[in-house]
Amino acid sequence: AARAVVVVAAGSGTRLGIGTAKAFVPVAGERMLVRALRTILTLPEPTIVVVVAPADRMDECRALVTEVAGAAGEYTTIVPGGADRHASVQAGLAALPDSVETVLVHDAARCLTPAAQFERVFDAVAAGLTVEADAHAIGVGVVPALPVTDTVKRVTGDVVVETVDRSALVGVQTPQGFPLAALRRAYAVAERAETDDAGVFQAAGGVVRTVPGDADAFKITTRWDLGRAEAVVAERAA
Ligand code: C5P
Repeated sequence: AARAVVVVAAGSGTRLGIGTAKAFVPVAGERMLVRALRTILTLPEPTIVVVVAPADRMDECRALVTEVAGAAGEYTTIVPGGADRHASVQAGLAALPDSVETVLVHDAARCLTPAAQFERVFDAVAAGLTVEADAHAIGVGVVPALPVTDTVKRVTGDVVVETVDRSALVGVQTPQGFPLAALRRAYAVAERAETDDAGVFQAAGGVVRTVPGDADAFKITTRWDLGRAEAVVAERAA
């Protein structure tokens, strides 16, 4: 397959207050990682999947992938994650064959992200590789984005400095897509300060475009998010 998805699932879930790896927490009876993988397995084109798992839960992760993927599991690799998301993504990228042209990096914690969002990102990366090959020699990165709905203020301590023009702001989600070789190079030279893959790519000189995100692609971080996810699942089943 010329395309791949790296699913980072090695986070600890401290903010969920559960004391267990977050991706292994059930949402309405099914673990986040299982939900994320089920969606990825519905993608029509062959897609290599790398799951970045907590180092102490590799066996459990392998069993879970076999359960979800069945025969398609042969396209799935599991590697141990690192101390932070940055290190986990690098571990995932290192596990991919060089023949992969486009890679998407996805948070397992965004386990309700619709398949259509993966396709939008794959399509936009492919368009960047062909149409803009000359303009941006390394291709473009792609992030799903949604408008910011709250009023946003810049603050110093508890003092409001100014209102930030929200028409110029978006919130970004995953999966974020890139030409594999370019993303690997970006990670190789990156400082650790970036909070997402597009930040790493851009810091290395890459151009990043947005495609529309989806409200269901929110990241489950807190207990409240978990409740929201369960409501989305219930609504989909109704
Ligand atoms: O902690 P946060 O919610 O920002 O993590 C986002 C994603 O990165 C999660 O899917 C989490 O499992 C993953 N992660 C990881 N390795 C880490 C930290 C986070 O794979 N060391």
